[in-house]
Amino acid sequence: MACFTLASIALFLYAGIAAALTSSLQQVTNFGTNPTNVKMFVYKPTTVKTKPAVIVALHYCGGTAQAYFGGSPYAQLADTYGFIVIYPSSPISGSCWDVSSKQTLSHNGGGDSNGIASMVTYAISSYGADASRIFVTGSSSGAMMTNVMCATYPELFRAASVYSGVAAGCFVSSSGAVDAWNSSCALGQVSESSAQWASTVRAMYPSYTGAYPPIQEYHGTADTTLYFNNLGEEIKEWAGIFGYNAAAPTQVLSNTPLSGYTKSIYGPNLQGIVGQGVGHSVPIMGDEDMKWFGFVEGGAAPPPGGGSTTTTTAGTTTSTAPPTSTGGTAAHWAQCGGMGWTGPTVCASPFTCTVSNDFYSQCL
Ligand SMILES: *[C@@H]1O[C@H](CO)[C@@H](O)[C@H](O)[C@H]1NC(C)=O
Repeated sequence: MACFTLASIALFLYAGIAAALTSSLQQVTNFGTNPTNVKMFVYKPTTVKTKPAVIVALHYCGGTAQAYFGGSPYAQLADTYGFIVIYPSSPISGSCWDVSSKQTLSHNGGGDSNGIASMVTYAISSYGADASRIFVTGSSSGAMMTNVMCATYPELFRAASVYSGVAAGCFVSSSGAVDAWNSSCALGQVSESSAQWASTVRAMYPSYTGAYPPIQEYHGTADTTLYFNNLGEEIKEWAGIFGYNAAAPTQVLSNTPLSGYTKSIYGPNLQGIVGQGVGHSVPIMGDEDMKWFGFVEGGAAPPPGGGSTTTTTAGTTTSTAPPTSTGGTAAHWAQCGGMGWTGPTVCASPFTCTVSNDFYSQCL
């Protein structure tokens, strides 16, 4: 499945910060129903708010919980704002998320989405997390999975942000295969109406009648891994769910949130953010996520109540696994090179390490 070009850049940016964190990444086992054996890692700052919020942060293809912990800003932000971060780690060779099988595309269907949902319910029951302030985000394959989590477990999440993904259900496998690559979706050749996408979403949890989480969708116009057309499909999908017109944003803000980016607002629950000339490596905008998730003013979710802080108590945790080895070969679709990359540079047969840009090479 698709890999994510930010990996090496982000490791660059955050490697120094990681040393200053107040706590460390811990693996949690026995967190509930987990049919595909997704691994759960948690970052709990030394001090969290009473009834802490939770962000579920989903890694890119070829990534791991450890890589996303080190390569995204959420742990640092957790120290600042007193929330908990859950980093699920894919159980699949090549380390993509399954976003293609019937199981994962169904509420309690027995796929990866099921295990990730169990991590959320575990955090609520074991850490006293605030069930009304659980958020989900991810990059590339993790971005696809973020859309899937919003479709399959809408009741769990208060809001989501998606960095370079595809619409939930776009990567479906017609044969029902787990972790299948869907070229027509990746290449941006799948085009459906808002109504069709909305019915695809509803079919993932047919008995659900409640609200769906507000979503921000980020995408670069020069993405050659998951082509830019996919942003339009994501917008149509959620516009269909929220009853918005995907062809008529209510507001378009240029150079927002950064120079070269344009934010289109379709309604209170849906925003599309386009990076002009940006490839698959849309940088994670942690401060924007903090606004969207309501940790600071200007967001979608209610701001955290000024609750007193409390020291976290120990959960059923074990020490974190050591960093991924630098030897061996990279699997199909995995990263095999790029600036700052320290992992394997040789691909498993018969795949070839192919340069996509200075930051990223992939086994194709
Ligand atoms: C790829 O996904 C589309 C829907 O987005 C689906 O119609 C098509 O059958 C899928 N292709 C394969 C090979 O499964």
